[in-house]
Amino acid sequence: MFDTAVARPIDQIIAISRAYQEDPRDDKVDFGIGVYKDETGLTPIMRSVKAAEQRLIDTQKTKTYVGVGGDQKFVELFANQVLPDHAYGTDIIGIQSIGGSGAVRVLAELAHSLNPDACFWIPDPSWPNHKAIIGAVGAKMANYPYAKFTAEPDVDAILTALDGASPGDVVVIHGGCHNPTGIDPSIEELGRLTDGIGERGLIPFVDAAYLGFGDGWEEDSARVAAVADRAPEMLLALSCSKNFGIYRERTGAALLVGKGHANLAAANSNLLALARANYSMPPDHGAAIVRTIFEDPELKADWLAELTEIREIINKSRSALALALARAKQDRDWTYIDTGRGMFSLIDVTPEAAEKLREDHGVYIIPDGRMNIAGIDLNKIDEIAAKLVTAV
Ligand SMILES: Cc1ncc(COP(=O)(O)O)c(C=O)c1O
Repeated sequence: MFDTAVARPIDQIIAISRAYQEDPRDDKVDFGIGVYKDETGLTPIMRSVKAAEQRLIDTQKTKTYVGVGGDQKFVELFANQVLPDHAYGTDIIGIQSIGGSGAVRVLAELAHSLNPDACFWIPDPSWPNHKAIIGAVGAKMANYPYAKFTAEPDVDAILTALDGASPGDVVVIHGGCHNPTGIDPSIEELGRLTDGIGERGLIPFVDAAYLGFGDGWEEDSARVAAVADRAPEMLLALSCSKNFGIYRERTGAALLVGKGHANLAAANSNLLALARANYSMPPDHGAAIVRTIFEDPELKADWLAELTEIREIINKSRSALALALARAKQDRDWTYIDTGRGMFSLIDVTPEAAEKLREDHGVYIIPDGRMNIAGIDLNKIDEIAAKLVTAV
């Protein structure tokens, strides 16, 4: 059997991260993998997370299974934090998932099993794993256009593309801090997009992996609510990887949303069956950390303060990079980097130019031009910008 295997290329983001680590140059710059890094290049463990972990170590009495749906209290608290106007059990229901990726996977499987004809409409560009995960489920896929170098995506262009969709199709929407562009619609435009999705009989699938990294925890959650309040049915994938900095704990939630929808519980039973047949039960630790933080007002306040700090560092870096690029190359408009949100932004380069940037200057960006701006050294910003503009 193994003889039939043809070697597959390693994921390009992972490959670039590996190449960066192996690069001996002192002045190398890492714009690669999508993890938050502070000014010293460290992906820190948050104070609130450490405190919650200590509490768990001191008080946890068992390591028995958590159940197919995971830590239900975590799921309910998380759902309440993001969509406080949706009553858990009646308007929203779901399971703990294996990170945001696991939520995307199990929700895509659910949608595909309930409607095998449904085509998933994915923004172009998008997080590459959307295509990989939804493709692995065996569902049909199509793209809608997503602006790259402007202040906002063009909702009219998106809706025109969705004219080609059939009722029951699923529309993947990033829940803020769009990966890779960093460009999000305003909340009004998001509402207009959701109305257009509803008019076409389509189902929104919100993938929110960066809540709190954009404009604030409540502000970013309000974006999810702007869709949920308008849609009779919605799929919602949530991740705790970035906003709690617990990447390796693989924590998230897969949620089914629909105010007063009579069949939510039945749909959730399908989600549970899919989870059981896949990985049986999720791990406990990350969800227990997040639950502990949400249950304790002091820990929650500290976590929110830490999240604010992270967001401010990212936004400061975005502004500084936009200004430095404007100094280095004045005949381009770089404001989209400043007005964008989250860790990512695109730079208009060819994959060949991205490779040359890596080889000649030790500047590591993804071949599509994606840069993770978090962690950029602000003391060297002009030097870095000068190298970047050699590629555009
Ligand atoms: C758009 C998007 N969705 C989901 C995820 C999933 O994150 P995780 O599985 O690490 O929670 C990511 C992470 O890069 C992402 O960018």
